[in-house]
Amino acid sequence: MKTKIIDGQALAEDIKDEIVKEILELNKDNTNCLNRRPNLAIILVGDNADSNLYVDKKVNTAKQVGIDTHVYKCDKDSGQVKLLEMIDFLNNDQEIDAIMVQLPLPKGGDYDTDEIIARVKPEKDVDRFHPVNIKPVKDTCSSSLILPPVFGVILEMLKSIDYDLEDKIVTIVSKSKIFGGSLAKTLSCRGASAIAVKPGADDLAERCLEADVLIPVIGQPGLIIGSMIKEDAIIIDVGITRDMGSVKGDVDAESCKERAAYISPVPGGVGPMTVATTLKNTLELYKKKMKRHKKGTKFRSFGT
Ligand code: GUN
Repeated sequence: MKTKIIDGQALAEDIKDEIVKEILELNKDNTNCLNRRPNLAIILVGDNADSNLYVDKKVNTAKQVGIDTHVYKCDKDSGQVKLLEMIDFLNNDQEIDAIMVQLPLPKGGDYDTDEIIARVKPEKDVDRFHPVNIKPVKDTCSSSLILPPVFGVILEMLKSIDYDLEDKIVTIVSKSKIFGGSLAKTLSCRGASAIAVKPGADDLAERCLEADVLIPVIGQPGLIIGSMIKEDAIIIDVGITRDMGSVKGDVDAESCKERAAYISPVPGGVGPMTVATTLKNTLELYKKKMKRHKKGTKFRSFGT
């Protein structure tokens, strides 16, 4: 087989090792002003098997790296008001560094996802899609931003194969304008000519065929077939669909495997890395909280 695999599982292990190292460093000589481990709160609404599994993965992986998780489960019919109250409670809890509401929320329930995303305090927003956090991702090329986990995963995967985005054509296939557009901007900032197209776009085939890097985020198993991709393309498969016990990506690996240079497989690609990167973001939010805490202490001691 010509195509090489981008091993997301191995890269996730590297991210986890880094997190462990950093947490140990922050706690050496008892110099940790917060005096506790990083805390991630996850709100899980309803009883969707996929969501339960994703949350379990985060909880188990967090345990391995020394991050504490707190899962708040609520009934699928809890409704918007109850969910907003829960977010407010966690926003005000000084011990919680990071919050995520597991998506998607139950269909048919009384939920406004945009309002829920915007209710999480920006400094606790681990997904980074709060309007205050995603705006600079879209509007600036600052390299110091904490990125949405999947964006970080894509950059990390490209780095792992020493891929330079300069002047490369990148096509993102996504139903979500905010996700696709912000990711395109993130990659354009690194020199690529990146665009986001919808799966139903008239020019979908053309945009896929010209892409040096193709990033499907669709959720339709096997939609991307060999004849749709450029010779030697890099394919990062973000579409994860669970189908009768097995997990499938958007890419039909069989027909792409003699044409692509690299493919990130499903399972074992973006999934484990997204979990690890969510935890890395939790650590980054915890570090920022430490900084704010130190600054606050300094100001208080000046005042006395
Ligand atoms: N559901 C599947 N992946 C994710 C994620 O990264 N964040 C949230 N909030 N929900 C998800």
